[in-house]
Amino acid sequence: MKRTLGRSGIEVSALGMGCWAIGGPYAGGDNQYGWGRVDDAESTRAVRRALELGVTFFDTASSYGAGHSEVVLGRALGADRDRVVIATKWGFTFDERTREALGTDSSVAYLRSCLDGSLRRLGTDHVDLYQLHLGDLPVAEALDLVAPLEDLVTAGKIRAYGWSTDDPERAAAFAAAGPHCAAVQHDMSVLADRPAMIELCERAGLASINRGPLAMGLLSGKYADGRTVARDDVRSQSYDWMTYFRDGAGAPEWLARVEALREVFATGGRTPTQGALAWLWARSGATVPIPGFRTVAQVEQNAGALAQGPLRPDEFAAVEGLLADLRVASVA
Ligand SMILES: NC(=O)c1ccc[n+]([C@@H]2O[C@H](COP(=O)([O-])OP(=O)(O)OC[C@H]3O[C@@H](n4cnc5c(N)ncnc54)[C@H](OP(=O)(O)O)[C@@H]3O)[C@@H](O)[C@H]2O)c1
Repeated sequence: MKRTLGRSGIEVSALGMGCWAIGGPYAGGDNQYGWGRVDDAESTRAVRRALELGVTFFDTASSYGAGHSEVVLGRALGADRDRVVIATKWGFTFDERTREALGTDSSVAYLRSCLDGSLRRLGTDHVDLYQLHLGDLPVAEALDLVAPLEDLVTAGKIRAYGWSTDDPERAAAFAAAGPHCAAVQHDMSVLADRPAMIELCERAGLASINRGPLAMGLLSGKYADGRTVARDDVRSQSYDWMTYFRDGAGAPEWLARVEALREVFATGGRTPTQGALAWLWARSGATVPIPGFRTVAQVEQNAGALAQGPLRPDEFAAVEGLLADLRVASVA
């Protein structure tokens, strides 16, 4: 199953792999931004297994693991780099050596220098999709970056670009300003539909790259047993956007919805994570979910969703019937 990255025409597997967790822990002061300890050897095997299973799209960011995610991904892809489409992001500053998150930088100079750092860590001469990571940046500041991004396309250092933002108005303004803007990356899952963003993507020819497609792991159903994540896992933090986890455990009101979905997905022979991905494909032809992973087994299960494709219309209707008024409020 394939999808196109909006008007760029770049073809990708309908499933991408989100590479945040494989960056390992990184922190800024007392704030944890990683997903706790990971095993680089297992991350490498997981990337290689994704390739074997037909996945050709990988999403990372310069800041994940303060550069470490890009290093692990680049090494794992090795000589297969040209078989895949790599998306990365810039905007957050960090210290690669100490694995510290420092702050943000929206300047043109940082856009360029951060790209050079990503190319070095990924071991490549171009990035396929370069994404602005600062979701709340004022539109005027983002628009100042469009001409430099178009120059980078001309120079062959990037093929297309996009904005990682949950705000459809920001995304629309960015897309209108530059012909090589091809995607918006935004939060979306069966628990958080985003009608205004989907409408924009379909109308403007943008890929809807879905971050958090498994509600940070909650949609797997495994947090129903009350287990908690490690203290250096971002899900143990009380950020105001941490909807699905509270004190490192699945939030009870959301766990109840995940349990209700399990049965609908099982009737189609899907695991809960496969059902969550299939819902996204059924929702729009523009969506490209990028579930995070930390093991080969997770990659195998998530890539297994590709074989069955989108939910059937009756399955989709059953989900809508269950969740009608029980979703995260939309931002627009
Ligand atoms: N601002 C931004 O641009 C931004 C923000 C967030 C994310 N993203 C991107 O979106 C990607 C995905 O979002 P996300 O990582 O927040 O969350 P997600 O994809 O909703 O959840 C990923 C987590 O779910 C668990 N999981 C995955 N497959 C599983 C399976 N088959 N069975 C059981 N558990 C499974 C794993 O964690 P455990 O095993 O530890 O539970 C995994 O790390 C990120 O990797 C990143 O590339 C971008």
